[in-house]
Amino acid sequence: MASTRGAAEKAQVLVASNRGPVSHHVGEDGSLHVRRGGGGLVSGLSAIGPDADSVWVCAALGDGDREAVRRAAGGLLPAADTGGQRVRMLDIDATVHAEAYNGIANSVLWFVHHMLYQTPLEPVFDAGFRRQWASYEAYNQAFAEALAQEAAEGAAVLIQDYHLALAPRMLRRLRPDLRIGHFSHTPWAPPDYFRLLPDDIATELLTGILGADRAAFLTQRWADAFKDCCHRVLGPGIPSGTRIGVHGLGADADFLRKRAHEPDVAERMAALREEIGTAPDGTARRTIVRVDRTELSKNIVRGLLAYEQLLEDRPEWREKVVHLAFAYPSRQDLAVYREYTAEVQRVADEINERYGTPGWTPVVLHVKDDFARSLAAYRLADVALVNPIRDGMNLVAKEVPVVSDEGCALVLSREAGAYEELGEDAYAVNPYDIGGTARALHEALGMPAEERAERSKRLAAAATALPPARWFLDQLEALTGQPS
Ligand code: G6P
Repeated sequence: MASTRGAAEKAQVLVASNRGPVSHHVGEDGSLHVRRGGGGLVSGLSAIGPDADSVWVCAALGDGDREAVRRAAGGLLPAADTGGQRVRMLDIDATVHAEAYNGIANSVLWFVHHMLYQTPLEPVFDAGFRRQWASYEAYNQAFAEALAQEAAEGAAVLIQDYHLALAPRMLRRLRPDLRIGHFSHTPWAPPDYFRLLPDDIATELLTGILGADRAAFLTQRWADAFKDCCHRVLGPGIPSGTRIGVHGLGADADFLRKRAHEPDVAERMAALREEIGTAPDGTARRTIVRVDRTELSKNIVRGLLAYEQLLEDRPEWREKVVHLAFAYPSRQDLAVYREYTAEVQRVADEINERYGTPGWTPVVLHVKDDFARSLAAYRLADVALVNPIRDGMNLVAKEVPVVSDEGCALVLSREAGAYEELGEDAYAVNPYDIGGTARALHEALGMPAEERAERSKRLAAAATALPPARWFLDQLEALTGQPS
């Protein structure tokens, strides 16, 4: 598979992230088929135009087999399928990748920033952890070297997320001429929690990111937490060479509204309506919708328990409401995720057994990832339930009000980044408070239609204030000092 430009040509804009911008499958003849993925970064990078000299450096594509991609594409993917830019997938040893990604990034850093450790899931910093840490360093070094190789003199490099906290400093050493940005898509832990990490590791993570010219976050709250950690762990705090920025990513209204009105979405709406059914008195059933990766931070089980409590405490809603809960498996290499996935299923089944009737399934749980069906549920939503324990932003909270046909009420965790922008028109919940969440669901379901439509309009306006392309260009501009 040929790239549209020569391998020797250097890039002016580089993006680095664990997962690249495409998903793929390998055909029976060994040929590689790639499909452009979604998300803010992908739309953002396309916004700089197909002629821009850009490259995306990654270590994985979709959930597929990294080895097969390397064999089929030689590590370089055709620009045509990826929004116009080259994609370079790094040849990182499978064990190093697994230890860096599953071991450190997803089992340690994700848990620290989302404050997910609790008995019996405790931090373990033993010899095994140190081995994984060495892999995390090697993984970051591989990115730094590839970026140093691909970047033109003075190029802008945008490094993404907790997988790559060390890469900015490593790259700075190799290429002091570059403008380096780091962006955290997660929350940042407050100092008391961050300091669960061994001191040397905490220092390496912070100084790694401080190797960038700019470290940016989704909300002021996460940026402040990062600054607090720097002060507490490093003493002098943020060096004068590093600026801290905040860019809140919004929903892509144009894309979502168009996509939500395509025929496959209409088909899925019809199928969902069948599953929802009609109340015994002939009225339409209300819907509470949630769409998440099956992820501990998303707090799906407590969401289900809150719904159960609603049915228990407010029998008037029985037979009149259906909870559409879409929980798409994620990170299934990790036992704790597999167990959580099973628990979600078990709790949903229990609620259905306890309250269901021949004509009413209280929880409709779907676990097979299907974007068209998610959009169909968004369109049918009366209430959106978004109750994460902590979340960098949470785009579902922003997307449902944009897409819902009749306007929806939003029950939103105050610990989601989106709360800073949407809090005024949402029902705020403490994600641990099951009773409080049940009460919020009751109020949201009972909101008069007119008020709901008005609030939903305001939510949609706030949710789309910073579309992905602008979000990306603002970062680039802030890094280079040039309007893009
Ligand atoms: C979410 C988070 C990102 C993170 C990504 C990784 O989207 O918001 O911060 O990079 O998950 O997920 P993955 O499935 O690639 O581990």
